[in-house]
Amino acid sequence: MTAITWELFNHQVAECRRCGLCGGIHHKVPGQGDPHAPLMLIGEGPGQVEDEQGLAFVGPAGQLLTRMLAAISLPRDRVYICNVVKCRPPNNRVPTAEEAAACMMHLRMQVSLVRPKVIVLLGSTAAKNTLGDTLRITRDRGQWFERNGVWMMPTYHPSALLRDPSKKREAWEDMQTLRDKLMELQLYPDLYGVSNDHA
Ligand code: URA
Repeated sequence: MTAITWELFNHQVAECRRCGLCGGIHHKVPGQGDPHAPLMLIGEGPGQVEDEQGLAFVGPAGQLLTRMLAAISLPRDRVYICNVVKCRPPNNRVPTAEEAAACMMHLRMQVSLVRPKVIVLLGSTAAKNTLGDTLRITRDRGQWFERNGVWMMPTYHPSALLRDPSKKREAWEDMQTLRDKLMELQLYPDLYGVSNDHA
């Protein structure tokens, strides 16, 4: 059996022709961040800026995501960020079920390599492709789902918050829920450590 390594993952994504999306892109966007982060965030697919730079969540939605993480004192370089599909769908359309399924082997390999304890699913595409088609983002956001010892929480995609700022209040609640889980599991003790104050 071939060992799963980052080298193999990078090669696999670079060579991938499993669906038609790679025909119209500038760069593949595998994902980036701390390769052993306790927290992974999964979005839908690269947008225009991501396609130009080959990096996930670096456009307007990514900048909002960075601010949301900062609001719970989490620097972006302490998490791992990627998408369901690694190639930009034309005009930012939602990836088809076939495209998402074709790309799932890459996401599975990333999860095996990072081994996160907590995964945040950003938007409906990430939530449905991970937790199943019956997932409804408006109904199920902010809830925890445990799968094989990994805690998963769907929340709104930052692009949805940019389109409809009235959703920001619920998204903020979800970020608090996330911070509580990270604290409970003691995943970032240097950021959320128990107080040493015995006075
Ligand atoms: N939207 C996504 O889902 N992912 C990105 O990387 C950028 C925008």
